Amino acid sequence: MRDHLANMLNAAKASFDEWARENARFCDLKRARFDLPGGYPYGERHMQSIYLLRYYAAYLAETCMLFEELSENGLQFPVITSFGCGSLLDAKAAQYVFDGVYRYRGYDIHDWHLKGVALGDGCEFWQGDLFLARDFPDTTNVFHFPRSVGDLGERMNELSGSLLASRLHSDIIYVTATCRNDIEYDFEKLVAFGNLLTGYSLDIWIRRSGLDIVNFFGRNGRNGIAQKYSWFNAVNDAEAVSFCSGMVEKCEQSSYINCPLPDCREYVSRWPTLTLGELSYVALKYKRD
Ligand SMILES: C[S@@+](CC[C@H](N)C(=O)[O-])C[C@H]1O[C@@H](n2cnc3c(N)ncnc32)[C@H](O)[C@@H]1O
Repeated sequence: MRDHLANMLNAAKASFDEWARENARFCDLKRARFDLPGGYPYGERHMQSIYLLRYYAAYLAETCMLFEELSENGLQFPVITSFGCGSLLDAKAAQYVFDGVYRYRGYDIHDWHLKGVALGDGCEFWQGDLFLARDFPDTTNVFHFPRSVGDLGERMNELSGSLLASRLHSDIIYVTATCRNDIEYDFEKLVAFGNLLTGYSLDIWIRRSGLDIVNFFGRNGRNGIAQKYSWFNAVNDAEAVSFCSGMVEKCEQSSYINCPLPDCREYVSRWPTLTLGELSYVALKYKRD
């Protein structure tokens, strides 16, 4: 896992460098945020690279924690349908937590140029608008929203037809999400999704937000994750932190007189998400009636 993380971050950095060779100014990175109309520009390669540099390590660790809880809850062979899968980091987390015993199909409008796992061997990618999918794999026992409820939550009801057409085999279905920043919102939307599972009722739910996890692992900050997952230290090998946080300086070196503009430091040199306090996830467990 350590090699995987270092390789992934180094690949993201190399890919970002390709863009940087053609673009001396980094002002464009001010679009790399979630609160602009139209949302984060996920379809653009350099925006994917910078997203991975900032968030991949933390979201991978977060997803491992979520899947470990499912494993502790008795799930042995996850068949995951992932909505808004992006780089497939959740497939990598499943591979890690369940020792390679898993199946996975990720849905995303964009085919991200870097992926956490190779396709094949039970790991599939379906490119397109998931609201247009006719059905989902009938063996699914985990419907996962990897940091994607914010993008998809308002349209949950539109999934009712494709869910009904899926004729699910499993008597137990987990509906899970890693959450961006409003766990209440994500929780409510997951319940709305769960209500679309006809013939199933909510059995239990698990909810972890930053504070719970910090308490559990004892320390805030990077050491919190690294205490649990030593491979997390590979973030240092890849120098992702200093690379991202030093972005404005690299841009300044290109000698534009009026830079940096006041908001550059906030939006261009954004630090990777490395503190446990920002991680959270939800899992709802449904049982067939
Ligand atoms: C916040 S990103 C999450 C990426 C990745 N799962 C992660 O955890 O890093 C949300 C993803 O949802 C995808 N998405 C948004 N609307 C979609 C739709 N209607 N159908 C399929 N994918 C969609 C975006 O392309 C983007 O990759």
